[in-house]
Parts: sequence; C-alpha cells; structure tokens
Amino acid sequence: MDFGTSVLLILLFWLGTGSCAAEIDWTYSGQMGQPQWSEFFPDCGGSGQSPINMDSAQTKYEPRLAVVRPLGYSQHGNEPFTLSNNGHTVIMPLPNWMGIGGLPWQFSAVQLHLHWGNGGSVATGSEHTINGRSTAAELHIVHYNSELYENVSMAMTQRDGLAVLGILIEVGEETNQAYANIINYLSRIRHAGQKVTIPAFDIQTLLPKDLRSYYRYNGSLTTPPCYQSVLWTVFQETIKLSMTQLVKLETLLYTSEEGDSQPSVLQDNYRATQPLNQRVVLASFQHRGVKVYTAGEISAIVMGSLCGCVGLAVIIRFIVKTIRSTSSWDVLPSVRPAPQSRSKDMGKALKQDMALKTTAESGKPAEPAQSEP
Ligand SMILES: *[C@@H]1O[C@H](CO)[C@@H](O)[C@H](O)[C@H]1NC(C)=O
Ligand SMILES: *[C@@H]1O[C@H](CO)[C@@H](O)[C@H](O)[C@H]1NC(C)=O
Repeated sequence: MDFGTSVLLILLFWLGTGSCAAEIDWTYSGQMGQPQWSEFFPDCGGSGQSPINMDSAQTKYEPRLAVVRPLGYSQHGNEPFTLSNNGHTVIMPLPNWMGIGGLPWQFSAVQLHLHWGNGGSVATGSEHTINGRSTAAELHIVHYNSELYENVSMAMTQRDGLAVLGILIEVGEETNQAYANIINYLSRIRHAGQKVTIPAFDIQTLLPKDLRSYYRYNGSLTTPPCYQSVLWTVFQETIKLSMTQLVKLETLLYTSEEGDSQPSVLQDNYRATQPLNQRVVLASFQHRGVKVYTAGEISAIVMGSLCGCVGLAVIIRFIVKTIRSTSSWDVLPSVRPAPQSRSKDMGKALKQDMALKTTAESGKPAEPAQSEP
C-alpha cells in the first residue's frame, strides 16, 4: 500500500466515524451556534419557532381555555428517577403514566429539563420572556399526544404532536424544596454523559400554584431539530429558587465530557426569542388593567411625580405665606404693602416651579416597549 492510499483510507475512516456518523453537535454560541442551526436543521428557520416574547398588550384573552390538570404527577411510585447531563441541559425522563389534561388531546409525559443563564447581574436564562423581561431560568415539562401518536418519536414531527409546560423561575429568599430534589444531585452529573438515579418525588410540586393563568400558543422545540409541533403553555405565575440553588444550576455542570482537557461550563443554554410572525398568543386570564412598566419607565414616573410634588409644595408654601402676610382677606391689593423680599421670593418660586414642570414634562413615561420583531 503506498502512502497516498493510506492517507485516503485514513481520511475515509475519519469521515465515516466522525463527521458523518455523529449527529451534528450544535451549541448555543460559537461556530455551531443559534444563527447556524437552520443550516443543518431547516425547521429552526421556520416561521413558527419558540421561544417567543409574550407581549401582554397583544395577547388575546380566551376565557374558554381550561385549567391545566397534571395527571399522575404526584403518583411517582417507588422507581427512582434518572437525572442526566446531556451536554445541553440536565434532563430527567418521566414515566408515561404521567400526563396533562385540559388540552384538546390527552398528552403523556416524556421528560423535563431546564434552561438557565450565567449568573450575571441582569436576570437572563429563561427562554420565554414576558413584556421583554427574562427570568433567571425556565423549566420545561415535555409531553406527547398519546391520543394521536404511538410514541414520542412519531409525535414530535407532527402538528399537535407535543405539549410543553413552561415554568418561569426567579430568585427568592427561600430554598425551594421541590427543586432541591433535582439541584442537590447536580454535583453527581457534572460532566456530559453522566447519569445519577435519584429518589422519585412529586413532580406537581415543581409547578406554580395557579394552573389557571397561562399563555398558550403554537410553537416549536427550542433546540435542534426545532420541530414546529409544540402546543405551548407558559404559566403566568413564576416559581422561586434561592440564590444558592440558582448558582448551583449555573455553575455545576459542564458541556464537556469527563477528562476533557478544556472543560467548559454549561451556561446560557437558552435560545433567543423568535419572531411571532402571524401567530396569536392566547391568555387564559385577563390582565387587570395593570400596566407593566420597565425600569426606565418606573424611574421616569417616580422622578415625574417627585418633581410634581415638590412643585406643588412650593406653590402651597407660597400661597400660605401670601395669606399669612396679608392681615385679612378684605385688604385691597393696592393697599397692601409690597414687601421687596417677598416678591423676590415669588419670582424665585415661580421660576423654580416652571423649571420643575419642564422636568416633569420631559420625564413623562415613554411609550410601552414594542414586541420583538
Ligand atoms: C415508535 O413507533 C413506531 C411505529 O410503531 C416504531 O417504528 C418506532 O420504533 C417507535 N419508536 C420508539 C422509540 O419506540
Ligand atoms: C394551534 O394550531 C391548531 C392547528 O393545528 C389550531 O387549531 C389551534 O387553534 C392553534 N392554537 C393556538 C393556541 O393558536
């Protein structure tokens, strides 16, 4: 065998075992990052993708949306659960007797997994956003349509094949005992490919209390292959983890396998929000006329009111002073002595008031933020 043939054989072997056989290893950023997904997974470039931003001003109230009913979530049995690090997330398969009711079909549970950020000062990590606002993390509980399809692999490519519950996670004061059932075991699956069996627990405790208030829309898997087969339910109520728990989620896992010389931390495993296009987001609840303000709007309103109050105080003080200085109401203005200092005061007060008014004017709340393109 000459040199050229050997090289060719090696090359063919490498092609056969490596780039062709292995499924394409997508990531959230870098060379195989989000903008590249659609080159290898065409559905990722579709017009009905997830996640999305839910703009409360543009959602449609739909009173006929039923309360979400977890079925068998609390009957976990004695079989332990298996938690694993797949390099993209922490994932836990669920028994198929668990499911959800209250949807147009019967759906059986498949698995749950999480998305999170990187511990920066601004809360990022959730996939769905509400009025442009992210939360620290998001739990997804995936189900397949067991009324129409035989199993999840059949269902996942079909319209109405999957139903996912999205639970937005924020930081709170207390340790969340339900999520501790997962988070306490992350240190045992730090590297991609690792698994740990954990005691079974009540999955319903991971859900918010209010299962009546949610957003509903047609979307996709938020990871490749991005099939547009998901009926989404994102609850309005958030759940809270302690900061310690969130930090564990954000720092304990690696995307790389054990022994990798360059381990990389599994962080920021959330997809950017996708265009809504022609889709409608339904809300099972009515917004109680409470406008949600952004931080900028809030500070503008606070400054505006503050300036308004100071202005008012200056005017009242001026009036009171004027009344006090005149001995009685029937004194004619012409008769009243015109004290030099006071009229100066008045000029000053007026000027100040004008200045404050202008500030208040320019500090008016801005228009509500537009939804994502
Ligand atoms: C799902 O069902 C189809 C059709 O019966 C079958 O061919 C396939 O092997 C099943 N897949 C799994 C993962 O069970
Ligand atoms: C989702 O799409 C189906 C058609 O497959 C439609 O009947 C349904 O109303 C849509 N649901 C929402 C929430 O838009």
